[in-house]
Amino acid sequence: MGIVRVGINQARVNIKQASDQQGDKQTLKKLVVRGGRPLKGRIRVSGAKNSTLAILCACILTENEVVLENIPNISDVRVMLEIIACLGLHAYWLAEDVLHISGTAQLGGEAPYQLAKKLRASNLLLGPLMARKSLARVSLPGGCNIGSRPMDLHFKGLTGLGADLDIRSGYIEGRVSGRLQGAKIYLDFPSVGATENLMMAAVLAEGQTVLENVAKEPEVVDLANFLNAMGARIRGAGTDVIRIDGVPVLEKPVRYSIIPDRIEAGTLMVAAAASAGDVTLENVIPPHLEPLSAKLREANVRVEEAEDTIRVSTPEPLLPINIKTMPYPGFPTDMQSQMMSLLSTAKGTSIIVENIFENRFQVAQELRRMGAQVKVEGRVGIVEGTTRLQGTSVKATDLRAGAALVIAGLMAEGTTEIHNAHFIARGYRDFGVRLNSLGAAVEYK
Ligand code: EPZ
Repeated sequence: MGIVRVGINQARVNIKQASDQQGDKQTLKKLVVRGGRPLKGRIRVSGAKNSTLAILCACILTENEVVLENIPNISDVRVMLEIIACLGLHAYWLAEDVLHISGTAQLGGEAPYQLAKKLRASNLLLGPLMARKSLARVSLPGGCNIGSRPMDLHFKGLTGLGADLDIRSGYIEGRVSGRLQGAKIYLDFPSVGATENLMMAAVLAEGQTVLENVAKEPEVVDLANFLNAMGARIRGAGTDVIRIDGVPVLEKPVRYSIIPDRIEAGTLMVAAAASAGDVTLENVIPPHLEPLSAKLREANVRVEEAEDTIRVSTPEPLLPINIKTMPYPGFPTDMQSQMMSLLSTAKGTSIIVENIFENRFQVAQELRRMGAQVKVEGRVGIVEGTTRLQGTSVKATDLRAGAALVIAGLMAEGTTEIHNAHFIARGYRDFGVRLNSLGAAVEYK
């Protein structure tokens, strides 16, 4: 595997250009969507945001060079690159979606507040830092306000591996004398982040670690595959039990391609259905989308799968369905808001139960402003289909709610202004530009 070496100065210029170019768009305040235009054509899905964020943290574990392909140039990734740069890892773009990351022997131990607070995924720094440092300090994470998002399972697991953890002045402080020690850990809930943090902590621990009742999301499997490519010894990712045999060092430099983003793909599928369009997605892994494809077919949406493409088209009428969000392979919570938009014009009443996060129905109040008939009772959303949504001004409250409002704007009569559009840029690269390539009329303002 040949590592491409790029002169640091040229590389730094690359990273600067990339952030500047995207930076203009990030500072824009709103997206303006003109409704009633069906999406048609083909579009390539980007690499998975949630794989990328975990794998960038995993780069802390190695002193070797890493080349990552299929990386989405989105603001959450750029923030994570700044964080690992603070820890001593030099990252630069070799191409539009290819990153070179040089590991380091002089690893820093502190992830600064002003960066870590922007990103929930900053909590994934803890495991790898504890695997290599006797002292680590990570600011308590930020992220979307979709729920309390505690870290008790992360703490229980890391403590089980021999770390001492405290929270002091808004920072998580972790200490370990010598190496972490392998242990058997049961997760009360199959938390994605806790599974990833503990897997990363365990790869350099002394002895074997057994993680039970773990998350089975494709992004967890992608992280395990990346770690194994670097020389870790992980078995069982994607099942309920993951076994990790600790190794003293990760000795292999690696070139690795991130899996496609199933949530970006799902969002584009729902946008195609909502606009009564006909869109083919490229660079997808259809089995990762099975929970969504099954529910879309139930709603009378045509979903045709090939090896690495999915085509979505929508004969009338759209039918109401019931959805329960669950850990993978259940219906993904990250697609719940987008489905609420779609079902707001189905011919009947749909019931959505949100079982993962306690505050993930915020988009409902914005959809009601557009004429949607949505009632929320605790964890249950009741969506009574209406004939047409009306365009108006709305605001994004988190990344996926923002995407859901763009979908509602595609369906609506007239024009919809979506404020706080920076939320959308956290997880969707050039979302408006890419929808326009399919015939939408989306403007950045
Ligand atoms: C990851 O968040 C994703 N983020 C989320 O995507 C996704 O919604 C979520 O997994 C569920 O699939 C990244 O991967 C960066 P969890 P994470 O730990 O790891 C509770 C997006 O839009 N919990 O599986 O934070 C927690 O409160 C984002 O891309 C504990 O109680 O999710 C929640 O109710 C949003 N204690 C549930 O588990 C803990 O220690 C699921 O959380 C940890 C979690």
